[in-house]
Amino acid sequence: MAVAELTGTPSLYTTRTTHHRYQYYSSQLSYVSTRLSNYRRISLRPHYPRTNQNARTRCSVKEAQAPVALQTEDPKKKPECYGVFCLTYDLKAEDEIKSWKKLVNVAVSGAAGMISNHLLFKLASGEVFGPDQPIALKLLGSERSLQALEGVAMELEDSLYPLLREVSIGIDPYEVFQDAEWALLIGAKPRGPGMERADLLDINGQIFAEQGKALNAVASRNVKVVVVGNPCNTNALICMKNAPDIPAKNFHALTRLDENRAKCQLALKAGVFYDKVSNVTIWGNHSTTQVPDFLNARINGLPVKEVIKDIKWLEQEFTEKVQKRGGVLIQKWGRSSAASTAVSVVDAIKSLITPTPEGDWFSSGVYTNGNPYGVAENIVFSMPCRSNGDGDYELVKDVNFDDFLHSRIKKSEAEVLAEKRCVAHLTGEGIAVCDLPGDTMLPGEM
Ligand code: LMR
Repeated sequence: MAVAELTGTPSLYTTRTTHHRYQYYSSQLSYVSTRLSNYRRISLRPHYPRTNQNARTRCSVKEAQAPVALQTEDPKKKPECYGVFCLTYDLKAEDEIKSWKKLVNVAVSGAAGMISNHLLFKLASGEVFGPDQPIALKLLGSERSLQALEGVAMELEDSLYPLLREVSIGIDPYEVFQDAEWALLIGAKPRGPGMERADLLDINGQIFAEQGKALNAVASRNVKVVVVGNPCNTNALICMKNAPDIPAKNFHALTRLDENRAKCQLALKAGVFYDKVSNVTIWGNHSTTQVPDFLNARINGLPVKEVIKDIKWLEQEFTEKVQKRGGVLIQKWGRSSAASTAVSVVDAIKSLITPTPEGDWFSSGVYTNGNPYGVAENIVFSMPCRSNGDGDYELVKDVNFDDFLHSRIKKSEAEVLAEKRCVAHLTGEGIAVCDLPGDTMLPGEM
């Protein structure tokens, strides 16, 4: 989906950036004193790349001569926390009094970007995980965005969200993804002028390969991963292949925005409010080959075709409108969708942690192995899912196909397979061969 920040690699660090980080940490010390007097609930723990241990040592609270009282935590217990950040972090007793659930660790990449700027505040408010679910936000940015990331963290602090117990920022996925139970991977490089799609696949693929490795090494063994950065299906596949110890089923490519767009268009045409539209599947790739399924969709519980009799509109205008909505939006806004993408990430998470309403389903780009539709195995493809609310999902079995739907799905499948061949070097499946179909486009490319 839409694009935020390009994640930096620790190996790119220079002396200049080390200095910058030192300054950054010094500024954090002033937060410390503010927080001491106010007893705020947010702990802000900067993460530094593992590869630059010097910077990390130099930035310790001890060297900055923090008050003795700040150093009473057992350093072995919390290796990455610094001085007062450790003191403000552990509010377990208070959690118990309020009967809150155990803290959930949510990592977000591209955290200084536009999508995150909407998403993080929804996460922190309790809108996503519920009013009894305290949350730790682990924000991954790039070297370039570190300052902006600090600004994001400051705004989170200033919002006084009671459920937000911890905010940490950093540029090393191996640090930031530590114990993550959710990883919302938004950061990706946008396709620039003159850039071949193959180049984009390679550049972003490398980011997602690295992040997959990091998740595999340090995240919770049952982390749920939602890939938003484009091309999200292939990025999700790359991430998954680089994280062999995490169940393949835990990886999602975000197509919920496309589902929401399709629901809106059907509602508009039928003259009903959009909550009357259900059972909408987006099949395939998050690209202009995606297939918004009007054959199985329902309006007021009736098959769409019984309500909207204009088949030509369904096959052409509706289908194309959904496929190209992202691009039209870019033309209007001058940038990718951000707020509606964030809303759809919230919808996607909620769909996994709440039971799916009886008879309905939701769309997500998921691993195809074992799918009942005859879609090629070993790719990430958007399909209809149901959840009992435990974070997991099952594919919906009883869906109908006709020639139109089948042929469109095959076209999107061919595109995903071509993308996959193009990144074989990143999935451990041999040498990349890039033969992308000429019309392969992200929704934003028109
Ligand atoms: C969207 O669907 O809005 C985005 O994925 C568009 C884009 O290419 O950034």
